[in-house]
Amino acid sequence: MTYVIGGNCIDVTDRACMGVCPVDCIYMGRRKCYINPNECIECGACEPECPVDAIFLDRAGESDPAKAIHVEDTERFFAEPLPGRGEPLGDPGGATAIGELGVDTPFVAEHSAR
Ligand code: F3S
Ligand code: F3S
Repeated sequence: MTYVIGGNCIDVTDRACMGVCPVDCIYMGRRKCYINPNECIECGACEPECPVDAIFLDRAGESDPAKAIHVEDTERFFAEPLPGRGEPLGDPGGATAIGELGVDTPFVAEHSAR
């Protein structure tokens, strides 16, 4: 179980969530942020901070296909090489040291602008 950031974050990236995460596991792509599912301790602190209600528990995807897409896409963000990179990001152990990735999954990159 983990918390997941959904499509409402795309092109908003408010980042209030990043400031409250005790384990620094929210990573900034380019148009969206992604919670590392292996590093999240499910404290839930980020969920009420998001002004656009982008954050949800992964099990919400079981009854909502639009959320399920982001559960799967988030897994790909960490487990598969991002565009232009040779290796997967994996579990870096902290987003601050990594900085902004500046790249998204193909799914988010191709998402139409609002
Ligand atoms: Fe995105 Fe909301 Fe965080 S817009 S960056 S999930 S506070
Ligand atoms: Fe961090 Fe939110 Fe998980 S604050 S530990 S990403 S529930």
